[in-house]
Amino acid sequence: MRIALIGDLHFISPDDPSRQWREQRRHFAEAWPSFARTVAHVRRESPDLVVFLGDLVDYYSDENRDFALNQLDALKSPWLVTPGNHDFSLPAESDEATTERPEAKEIRRRWAARGVAMGNRAIACDGVRLLLVDSPNSSVPEGTVDWLRRETDGSARNILITHVPLKTPEMAKYILSVEPQRDLRKYVQSGAPSLFDEAVRGRVETVFSGHLHFPGYVTTGGTAMRLLPLGLCAFGKTYRGQGGIGILDTKAQGPATYRAL
Ligand SMILES: [Fe+2]
Ligand SMILES: [Fe+2]
Repeated sequence: MRIALIGDLHFISPDDPSRQWREQRRHFAEAWPSFARTVAHVRRESPDLVVFLGDLVDYYSDENRDFALNQLDALKSPWLVTPGNHDFSLPAESDEATTERPEAKEIRRRWAARGVAMGNRAIACDGVRLLLVDSPNSSVPEGTVDWLRRETDGSARNILITHVPLKTPEMAKYILSVEPQRDLRKYVQSGAPSLFDEAVRGRVETVFSGHLHFPGYVTTGGTAMRLLPLGLCAFGKTYRGQGGIGILDTKAQGPATYRAL
C-alpha cells in the first residue's frame, strides 16, 4: 500500500466573510491555486490513501471548511486527517465581519457533519497500523496513553500521525536549530510530555507531524520522526520545502520506506 502524506494547507475561501483577517493572512488566502501542483504530484503517484497532517484551514468558518473539502476532492483519493490547531481557531475578535464565534466542541461537530473525523483513531492498512493522534492544542485527550499502549501491543508495524510533534529532546533541539525563536510550549506536545516514553518508545516505527511548516527528520530511541513541510506554496512568502509531500510504501521490506517529493 502506498500512502501520500501532506502537511499543513491553511486554506481560506475567497468567499470567507472575514475580509480584514483574509487580508492579514494573504500569504495563505492567495496560496490555494498552488494546490493544483500538489494535486498533480499526488495523482502521478496514485496512492491508495492520502493522510493530511492537520491545519486544513487557516481558521474555521463554514466557508473555509467547505472550500478546503472541495479542494481535496480534486485528489480523487480516499483521505484521512489528524486535526491541527488552525482547524479550530477563529479570526481576531476585532474582525467585525465574523458574526459568530463557535466553541471548539461546536467546530468539531461541524467538521463531523461534513464527514471529517478528527479524534484518536487506529486504522489497519496492509500490515501497518496507522495511529492518528488528536493533538491540536499541543496536548492529547485523556486516555490517549492507554489507548496507544493497547493499540501498539501486537506485532503490527505502527505509524503515528500527529499534527504537533511529540516532545523529545531530539525534536526540540532540531526545531530550535532551524528556528531558534519557536516557543516549544506550542510547537511540541508540551501538554503530553511523557507520551513518547510511555506509549511510543519501542512501539512505533515512524512518527509524522506537521505544524512547523518546515521539513525535518530526527530519530529518538529508534523511532524515526519526520516533519512535513507546508503542503502547498504560500503567496509572496517562502516556507522551507513548501509544496513537498511524502510517499510511504508499506510493502517495502524492513521499515516502511519513505520518499520526500
Ligand atoms: Fe500550520
Ligand atoms: Fe498548526
